[in-house]
Amino acid sequence: MKSLSTTTLANGKQTEILIADNLKDLSAHLGSYGRSVLWVFDANTATLFKQLPPVNVVLESGESSKNFSSLERILSNAVDEGLARDCRIIGFGGGVVCDMAAFAASVFMRGCKLTLVPTTLLCMVDASVGGKTAIDFKGLKNMVGSFYPAEEVLISMDTLRTLPEKEYLNGLAEVIKHALLSQDEQLYKFLLVKKNEILSRDIETLQTLVTLSLAVKQWYIEQDPTETKGIRQVLNLGHTFGHALESSGHFTFGHGACVAWGTCRALEAGVNMGITDKAYAIGATKLFKSYGYDIDYRIGRGDWIEFRERLSKDKKKEKGQVLFVLMESQGKAVLRPIDMALVQHLVIAKPIF
Ligand SMILES: NC(=O)c1ccc[n+]([C@@H]2O[C@H](COP(=O)([O-])OP(=O)(O)OC[C@H]3O[C@@H](n4cnc5c(N)ncnc54)[C@H](O)[C@@H]3O)[C@@H](O)[C@H]2O)c1
Repeated sequence: MKSLSTTTLANGKQTEILIADNLKDLSAHLGSYGRSVLWVFDANTATLFKQLPPVNVVLESGESSKNFSSLERILSNAVDEGLARDCRIIGFGGGVVCDMAAFAASVFMRGCKLTLVPTTLLCMVDASVGGKTAIDFKGLKNMVGSFYPAEEVLISMDTLRTLPEKEYLNGLAEVIKHALLSQDEQLYKFLLVKKNEILSRDIETLQTLVTLSLAVKQWYIEQDPTETKGIRQVLNLGHTFGHALESSGHFTFGHGACVAWGTCRALEAGVNMGITDKAYAIGATKLFKSYGYDIDYRIGRGDWIEFRERLSKDKKKEKGQVLFVLMESQGKAVLRPIDMALVQHLVIAKPIF
């Protein structure tokens, strides 16, 4: 395994990110942890192993597993197996498994060792790094959780071979979002010139893509580890519009498609409000379109009330007003409220560019 980088978060806690050459390399590293280990999989990631390790919990796949009963299963297993505080929990899967494993590790005996092995693109570039852990509660996403960075994040591009296309595109939308938020244009240019290799999941290309994308996330989280300074919040670019669309349920595409759509609505809003450079917004919208996202989608007039309802539940608020992440230009994002009449126009009317 090659050490890619180390991220320092709250209280000086560090996460080392390691990249494996292949699955054999990954297995050898995982094998070096010894016996005091509890593994968390979901039904899909468990099938990546011919034989499961002795102490394991296999969750059902999907968001519905992010709950107290999964947490209880992991903790019960740890107690039944006599694991002590120096044990390690390994989350092997996408964001759901990693969020669950990390939350369990943060509370088992007031905190045990934690390794995450992200197996979705979204989890590699986003969920596994940054220390946020959570479960959904009372129908609200990520309502109960903690900050608990993994000691190690182990990434093997080989795990992406079995990832369904829809899940891959979910992650890719976050990568493009990172390209816009990056302080330099390296990732943006890479996405422009390596489209075919990225879409065909060429392993070497994926290594560069993940490395560049992770560096953007790390840049933001290191400056604002516990999301209290308004810096880390800009990583939510596209999510306010996107979540409203996703949760109002009229869009059959996945989370990534909603983030892509939402980012383009934020770019249009910024142009309209004189905040975003128009040429930049046009270029970024084209980039999303080139990867196949349905950017021109608009909600029906009859769906507006529900969409607005969902928007109003967004957590980023100031004095009761929802704050949107808007781009000024490459790497420069600001948090601003948007007039609801403009939001309505943007999500219903025909595209302006
Ligand atoms: N903690 C954070 O900072 C953070 C950041 C972003 C997202 N998240 C959370 O991450 C979750 C979404 O993560 P996700 O998109 O990875 O979803 P996921 O974990 O549900 O995985 C998506 C699907 O892909 C399957 N899968 C995973 N790896 C596979 C592989 N290699 N081959 C075949 N199938 C595979 C899973 O079983 C699942 O069906 C959400 O709950 C979200 O809240 C957390």
